[in-house]
Amino acid sequence: TKVSFVEVTGTTYAVEADSGISAMEAAVRNNVPGIDGDCGGAAACATCHVYVDPAWLAKTGAAGEGMEKDMLEFAEDVRENSRLACQIKLTSELDGLVLRLPEKQH
Ligand code: FES
Repeated sequence: TKVSFVEVTGTTYAVEADSGISAMEAAVRNNVPGIDGDCGGAAACATCHVYVDPAWLAKTGAAGEGMEKDMLEFAEDVRENSRLACQIKLTSELDGLVLRLPEKQH
């Protein structure tokens, strides 16, 4: 599964990830700056906050009610398309996914 992480500056990190891992793990394994994944993917730190490219939002869905939404309240500049990358599971459906990194996170 290909995933692109795009910084505010336009710098793009295109990574190839195994299906089944989360977008956060894909970023951490490939040293994408700005995604720390401090809590290890438990939706408990918000250091993996990303914006889903609008074209992909229908496929990834919006942030889940409950833990993910609650934790996003601690993130800065949260938008409609904000997600915790650790809660996005990569599947072949999401091949080509584009995630944008928040300005503050790098
Ligand atoms: Fe901590 Fe996603 S890695 S909330």
